Amino acid sequence: MKILVVGGGGREHAIIRKLKENASVTTVYALPGNGGIASDAVCIPIGACEIDRIVEFAVTSKIDFAVVSPDDPLVLGCVDRLEDAGIPCFGPRANAAVIEGSKIFAKDLMKKYGIPTAAYEVFDSMEQALAYVETAPLPTVIKADGLALGKGVTVAMTREEARGAVREAMQDKKFGSSGERIVIEEFLEGPEVSVLAFTDGKTVKPMVSSMDHKRIGENDSGPNTGGMGAIAPNPFYTPEIAERCLREIFLPTVAAMNAEGRPFRGCLYFGLMLTPNGPKVIEYNCRFGDPETQAVLPLLESDLLTVMQATSAGTLADTEVRFSTGASCCVVMASKGYPRSYEKGFEIHLPTALTDSVFVSGATLRDGKLLTGGGRVLGVTAVEDTLRKAVLTAYRKLSEISFQNAYYRKDIGKKALTYTEV
Ligand code: AMP
Ligand code: GLY
Repeated sequence: MKILVVGGGGREHAIIRKLKENASVTTVYALPGNGGIASDAVCIPIGACEIDRIVEFAVTSKIDFAVVSPDDPLVLGCVDRLEDAGIPCFGPRANAAVIEGSKIFAKDLMKKYGIPTAAYEVFDSMEQALAYVETAPLPTVIKADGLALGKGVTVAMTREEARGAVREAMQDKKFGSSGERIVIEEFLEGPEVSVLAFTDGKTVKPMVSSMDHKRIGENDSGPNTGGMGAIAPNPFYTPEIAERCLREIFLPTVAAMNAEGRPFRGCLYFGLMLTPNGPKVIEYNCRFGDPETQAVLPLLESDLLTVMQATSAGTLADTEVRFSTGASCCVVMASKGYPRSYEKGFEIHLPTALTDSVFVSGATLRDGKLLTGGGRVLGVTAVEDTLRKAVLTAYRKLSEISFQNAYYRKDIGKKALTYTEV
């Protein structure tokens, strides 16, 4: 079978590695992929949002199955276009991807169907938003409506910060049209959990839970990033909480999307906060999370291609989705300066024995050398029978990898271990 994967980050690398475990897979094409993915797939220089070119490539290359992984092509309707051209696909159509593409859509959906989330107000006038933040309880949370490369959320501790965030979105148009409308919502507290779930619009099969580490600095300090590491499973997510989330959040969300005439097929990502008043939704994503996927998929024992095909064919109920009982840890190595400005083009020294443990997110190949090419460069993942061992092994492997200006957090998994081991 010929498989096409749209995207070019660590998440896509993890997906591709897992897909290749299926013996019927002959070729995987990554569009555009990256210099590290090139050792596992044929990288084609077509951008993830160049939908016309993606469809043309898929048709002329007689692709048997396509996986559209990042948020923007999903929101732009890449799956619709591929399916309409006769290519079976994993991923939601545009009318369902809106669950991530518009925070206002997601909040209104949750309100209408009684799915627990933070209380909120929607604004399309800056004057009204500014007036509202003068009396809103602090901290308060300001979110641009549309996609904003993960940077559209501000947790404002002061009114000054809140005013600044409103102006950045609505006056300075920092997120373009994504910030024309904003959500201002209640600040929630509690441990955060990421749950990725396969759903074919009828059945929901949650994957093992995980914990992202979003801030750049140790002990969750400094600005938000795309994610500096992840562990799975998340020890805060007990079987009782999992059962409650399935009943109060996952199944109602899938049913709500059906009721709206927007059946969701693909990977639905639930960003949850376990508040003293029960689990609440912080955000939905219409796709696998990154770096969560780099920690979660190595624990998947079932065949990923089979599960993805069942998801798109609507037969997930009859398909086993089994995870190992072990634990995993993924530590991201980034370029110093990320998430702000950073230099790239430094050679990555990666022992061959470790390539199976590494998913590459930002690198280019030049003259056979792998060079840093992004803010997040790679993730090192270890799977062990306990989380403590997985953390130790991930850092031991990481110590054998080097490049100039490398930065990584030294405390990935610490919060989870402290909680588990007290
Ligand atoms: P998002 O871009 O939606 O993932 O949000 C980024 C981060 O902002 C989340 O992971 C949370 O840590 C934080 N956040 C978002 N919404 C809230 C909220 N209502 N209360 C507290 N923190 C929040
Ligand atoms: N790790 C968070 C995300 O993928 O959105």
